[in-house]
Amino acid sequence: MAVYIFAAFFVVILCSFYLYARKKYSYWSDKGVKGPTPFPIVGNFGSVILVKDSVQQYIKTVHLKYAGEKLVGVYRGFQPMLLVRDPDLIKQVMVKDFHKFQDRGISSSGSRLSQNLFSADGEMWRILRQKLTPVFTSRKLKEMVPLMQQCVDKFVKYVDYLVENNIDHEMRSLASKYTLDVIGSCAFGLDLDACSDEENQFSIMAKKIFKPTVYVRFLTILDMLIPGVRKLFTTSTEILDFFLGLVRNVIKEREGTPPVRKDFMDLMIELREQGKVSRRKEDGISEIEMDDYLIAAQALVFYSAGFETSAATMSFLFYELALNPDIQDRIYQEVCKVYEKYNGQLTYESLKEMPYLDMVLDETLRKHSVAGILFRKALEDYTIPGTNVTIPKGTLIMVSANGLHADPEYFPNPEKFNPDRFLPENIKTLKQCTYLPFGEGPRNCIGMRFAKVQSLMGIAAFLKNFKIERSPKTDTHLEYDPKGIVLLTKGGIWVKISKR
Ligand code: HEM
Repeated sequence: MAVYIFAAFFVVILCSFYLYARKKYSYWSDKGVKGPTPFPIVGNFGSVILVKDSVQQYIKTVHLKYAGEKLVGVYRGFQPMLLVRDPDLIKQVMVKDFHKFQDRGISSSGSRLSQNLFSADGEMWRILRQKLTPVFTSRKLKEMVPLMQQCVDKFVKYVDYLVENNIDHEMRSLASKYTLDVIGSCAFGLDLDACSDEENQFSIMAKKIFKPTVYVRFLTILDMLIPGVRKLFTTSTEILDFFLGLVRNVIKEREGTPPVRKDFMDLMIELREQGKVSRRKEDGISEIEMDDYLIAAQALVFYSAGFETSAATMSFLFYELALNPDIQDRIYQEVCKVYEKYNGQLTYESLKEMPYLDMVLDETLRKHSVAGILFRKALEDYTIPGTNVTIPKGTLIMVSANGLHADPEYFPNPEKFNPDRFLPENIKTLKQCTYLPFGEGPRNCIGMRFAKVQSLMGIAAFLKNFKIERSPKTDTHLEYDPKGIVLLTKGGIWVKISKR
């Protein structure tokens, strides 16, 4: 008898769960929005949970599969999320109605570390963005070029040593030595020399941030099933402690002296001395205390957003040049002319005289968009213009930058590496909001110009001195690694480097 009662109970639970899941998963179809069929509990992100796909690669596939649709509905666990495909609607969400979609709405650990410009929402984000924007003005960037030049010199010297000694080096980690030096110098005033000193604390921290532990991966997966749950768990404070220590040391060294380097840390010290940072709102005044923790959190995000993205982009560019020697030759001619004109020294102005290299960088960012997915959260109920679809407050919106970049409707023959797409006359005809390597609207990448300047300087110096060719280890069909936070390839990028 007990067995029958248990079986009946089990069937009732199963049926209730089935009905619950059916109702939850009819959310988008009830609104007339198409999308891939979800799987109970995991929703549409099963392949991500099984580490067969990264989120950005999966969403790219969905973007491409639903050609012709303006919107696509997906589920993260049971939570509905909306993929916006149509460029006009993307513009609406990211630019015109930005005030209704200001938050990124990504789950974070809930630690003080997550109070950084990238993860912060609401008023906190607005204050931080306003305060941090002056770090990235053209004047500031120009002042940083001599610091970057020192890193370029070390980079060239190191590659020279590798070539002389016939040492093979994977290109992504090679480029990250350079970008790590740059961010260390321009943001923190540190002379790292990541090229010769692999065991410096900065490099070690980089590995910890971008190679998450099993526990952190587990939390990420759990958060895919139950959005927001990761806030309830504590994670190691090692990374925050490191940055906190670093920030406190720099503050101690510089306190009481006038700002000399005018770098990121100088600005942060200025904000700290101002104490509370206020901003008037219609409904009162909101304040944040720019304490050491908050400064460390910003330092960390500039560091992590700053070097790995640029290093990945540089390595993809080198890869494409190994496969396209004619493009490499053209850049070489251009770079040599500029070096000659500027007496062998790159300046901020000289970078503007390398339009072809700039086009090659833009095409690299199109074909291998390292941060390929953009997130926004609806801050109020919102009817998507031109449709009957109303999404409630709190709905997460996604835009697939690498889906748009691989869409033949906007970029014909998208697999072909073709820098001419970015000739001025072709840019004019490019549909707005189809090329988004640095995002769009007021919440776009704050470090975009910094990234371009540091990449162009490193690439120009590299190509002036070295030639890149295919080697037997070069993989002509790159496969992306599903574990990568920033776009990563399985097995790395290998090419042959020789001296010019
Ligand atoms: C090739 C290099 C880079 C790429 C492709 C890249 C890409 C992006 C993208 C796609 C976003 C999201 C934008 C959006 O949601 O609309 C972003 C945000 C951000 N990036 Fe970058 N980035 C790069 C380099 C940098 C550098 C060098 C820094 C700092 C030194 C930086 C700091 C940030 C920060 C702080 C945010 C958050 C901005 C906010 O929410 O207000 N990035 N980046």
